[in-house]
Amino acid sequence: MTVFDSAEFDGHEDVVFHADPATGLNAIVAIHSSVLGPAFGGMRMRAYASDAAALDDALRLSKGMTYKAAMAELPFGGGKAVIIGDPRTRKTDALLSAMGRFIESLNGRYHTADDMGTTVTDMNVLREETRFAHGIADASGNPLPVTAFGVFAGIRAAVAQRLGRDDLDGVGVAIQGLGNVGARLARYLTEAGARLWVADIDPTRVERAADELGARAVSPEYIHAIAADVFAPCAAGAIINDRTLRQIRASVVAGAANNQLDKPRHGAALKEKGILYAPDYVINAGGLIDVACEGPDYDPARVLERVAGIYDTAREVFGRARVEDAPTNLVADRMVRARLSSHGQSTIAA
Ligand code: NAI
Repeated sequence: MTVFDSAEFDGHEDVVFHADPATGLNAIVAIHSSVLGPAFGGMRMRAYASDAAALDDALRLSKGMTYKAAMAELPFGGGKAVIIGDPRTRKTDALLSAMGRFIESLNGRYHTADDMGTTVTDMNVLREETRFAHGIADASGNPLPVTAFGVFAGIRAAVAQRLGRDDLDGVGVAIQGLGNVGARLARYLTEAGARLWVADIDPTRVERAADELGARAVSPEYIHAIAADVFAPCAAGAIINDRTLRQIRASVVAGAANNQLDKPRHGAALKEKGILYAPDYVINAGGLIDVACEGPDYDPARVLERVAGIYDTAREVFGRARVEDAPTNLVADRMVRARLSSHGQSTIAA
């Protein structure tokens, strides 16, 4: 595998591999940019098909974090950690402690938080070993619903732009993935009067949404093809690809999942089909904004107020895209690159 030449490598500052045979930990930390500040990004644990797939994920996600922080005007760079292994069977406190020591050894160049396959409770274990683990639980031990709240704001902005509506009453939304973000997003949407279709590979999550919110259950293979107004991907990335593009019937794609576009050209393809795409890193920045607000004066109400600003950021991107007649993903990327180059970053490719 050629790493330095790969499209994903794209100017990364550091990629650090770490193994701890005693606990079975195999992990990668990718630091894409520290131009705006220390690299922030969640810690993902997943049963990757290969080490190369794990590296690819770390590189793509850490670059996405650089873009997310810059778009949200936060003083952070972009990074990401991946742990290779099925979190349901391989995650132990000993493994998490070893990961904490690894992150501490990077001396603050990389800060972590929960992500797919990890939880805020795991962050408590890491915090025993490192000063650089974030993520605050609410009174019930769950992560604060900030990411979902930001995605909700992004969906409202996209619906206003594409459908010309200021409310979500009766608007149909198909949610793929009912995890930390998707399940909470489903609640916000229901409270706003939206009609929901939901899918998850975990049937208990679908049953709960059906029972508690009246959502309609859909098979995970078809959720992207539902004739809803909005398709909200809230599971894994690359869901907008050559195959799904032919099948999507929604007029808005707006969700939490990172790296929703398989390739940047899929943003242009969505535009050609008349589908408004809310760039993932523009609307899923709530968790990162929350981390930026951590400290002795932490105030959840103020965090939510800041996260609500995602509505305006998304409208700005949509507005520019309309004026320039350009795909929203390219417009957002250009806005970020302008911000980064004003801080001296010159290595990021177009
Ligand atoms: P999670 O792991 O809690 O939930 C993911 C859900 O998707 C799970 O319920 C899983 O069973 C389901 N799923 C997996 N594959 C599926 C498939 N093929 N079809 C349907 N459902 C499937 O993850 P979380 O935290 O909710 O994050 C969701 C997405 O949002 C991820 O891409 C993550 O990177 C991204 N994200 C999360 C943030 C956060 O604050 N948690 C912040 C920014 C982005």
